[in-house]
This record gives sequence, C-alpha cells and structure tokens, in this order.
Amino acid sequence: MPKLVIIYGTSMRNTELVARAIEEGAIREGVETLLKNVNDASTNDILNADAVAIGSPNCRDAMMPTVKKFLKNLACIDLRGRVGLAFGSYGWGLEAIDDIHNILLSYGMEMVQDCGVKGKPEDEELDECRRVGSQIARKIKE
Ligand SMILES: Cc1cc2nc3c(=O)[nH]c(=O)nc-3n(C[C@H](O)[C@H](O)[C@H](O)COP(=O)(O)O)c2cc1C
Repeated sequence: MPKLVIIYGTSMRNTELVARAIEEGAIREGVETLLKNVNDASTNDILNADAVAIGSPNCRDAMMPTVKKFLKNLACIDLRGRVGLAFGSYGWGLEAIDDIHNILLSYGMEMVQDCGVKGKPEDEELDECRRVGSQIARKIKE
C-alpha cells in the first residue's frame, strides 16, 4: 500500500493541527500514513515512504532547529522521485515553509504545492489541509 509519512515540529500545536488534517485527507484516500512529531522521528521512518511531508512553524524567520536537523539527516537517503510536501503555520512570513520546500527539492523530490496556514487553523483552512492530504495520497496511488 502506498505510504505517506508526515513529520512536524511545533511549539503551540498549530502546525500539529495542520499535520493531522493532512493525514486525515490522506487516510480518506486509503493510503497508509505515519504521523510523528520530529522529536520522536528518525530517518528510518522515511525509508519506505512514497511521499514525505515535513512541517514547521516559522520561528525567527526560519524553521525550528529540530526540523532543520532532521532534514539534514535525510541527505543520506535517496529521495529522488518521491513526492514531497512542505507545510506549517506562520505569523507573517513563509521562510520556514520555503526553506523546507527547497531542501526537499534539492534532494530530488517531486514537490506538490506547499500548505501554509496563518496562526491557528480555522475549520475552512483545515478542510484545505485535508484536501492537500487527499491530493498527495492520490498522487502516490497513481
Ligand atoms: C518566539 C516566536 C518567534 C516567532 N517568529 C516568527 C517569525 O519570524 N515569522 C513568522 O511568520 N511567525 C513567527 N512566529 C509566529 C509563529 O510562526 C506562529 O505563532 C505559528 O502559528 C506557531 O506554530 P506552532 O503552534 O506550530 O508552533 C513566532 C512565534 C514565536 C512564539
């Protein structure tokens, strides 16, 4: 079964809400998912993933250091041709999401459109995150 792995950092749980909504959308499409806080994740979690979604809040114009370290460690895995998604919550700038996107792209991943939410996601925004999760799931089912 195709598999989506979702790894996120968060401080006030807004990015976690985004991550959970993405997972819900993917589950609707019947793909296998693995959702983990970056503090509990390891590169082994990515090994058999067809798609990888990485999220972080924007913090001082950057992603969380824990997420950055996790991304750096992914360099040892061949991610070429797998599907990638960058997501997160932000206050006023998109630096974290942009940087995640560019790092995954540099690993040769096929990126889908980023999923960013300002502050705490409202119901409508969570629906959009679910739609993104469904979209990425359909892509790996192809
Ligand atoms: C210490 C701190 C620094 C922040 N720095 C930024 C920033 O540089 N740019 C930005 O867009 N938002 C910034 N924010 C806002 C967070 O990105 C926003 O509150 C987000 O929803 C937090 O997501 P989380 O609940 O997943 O941690 C900052 C928030 C905090 C608490």
